[in-house]
Amino acid sequence: MPRLSKGEIMNDYLVKNASELTEAEIKTILENWDVEEWKRLEPGDFKRKFEKSEFHLLTDPGLNILCIARINFHFKVQINEIVYPIAELVGFVATEILKGYGKELLGHVSGNLKSRNIEAIGFCRNKFSKFYEFSGFKIFYYKVKYLRERRNESWYIPVEDDDIISLTLNDNTIQLFENLNETNPAYLLFE
Ligand SMILES: CC(C)(COP(=O)(O)OP(=O)(O)OC[C@H]1O[C@@H](n2cnc3c(N)ncnc32)[C@H](O)[C@@H]1OP(=O)(O)O)[C@@H](O)C(=O)NCCC(=O)NCCS
Repeated sequence: MPRLSKGEIMNDYLVKNASELTEAEIKTILENWDVEEWKRLEPGDFKRKFEKSEFHLLTDPGLNILCIARINFHFKVQINEIVYPIAELVGFVATEILKGYGKELLGHVSGNLKSRNIEAIGFCRNKFSKFYEFSGFKIFYYKVKYLRERRNESWYIPVEDDDIISLTLNDNTIQLFENLNETNPAYLLFE
């Protein structure tokens, strides 16, 4: 639903599967993600690669993309032997920073996922955590070191991030993340 953002401009919020993205949208997403190995992905390859993701987009009235978030459903979290289907926020980028687009889009994303009873988390470097806190989300500070990720048949501690963000976790799941520690890690399962 359109809402007024900073500057009183009416922006739009769109949710699309990869297969529904236009070639122009895919081009803008890849330019803004700035991942070298993905830059030359053809639209068909992009759609196959991200077939288990949803794209949440904030656009201006001319449908120009202002902010992008990918929700990855290719992901589960195992804590205390129980597997939880928790979606992952990734590829979150504003086409122009500090204009309110990130906060506006995340508000839509969390509302949308909550209305569908989907729990979701994100990961970030500590320097970005204030943004998520200002945007109203709970942060599990320095808990990424209690995650374990499977690579090449072994479990690794992810090193790219520091903190975990609760986008839509319910109270029980929040408690599970609060309780993570060296002897009680969470295992990230990418299907
Ligand atoms: C992270 C990102 C999406 C934030 O979006 P944004 O549109 O720039 O942020 P907003 O303008 O909505 O900011 C919302 C609030 O957070 C604050 N904020 C934004 N970035 C911040 C940062 N890095 N550190 C501290 N506060 C920050 C803003 O000042 C604003 O505060 P206010 O509500 O009191 O005015 C954007 O910085 C970005 O695209 N970064 C590059 C991509 C990236 O690194 N993504 C991964 C992040 S984990």
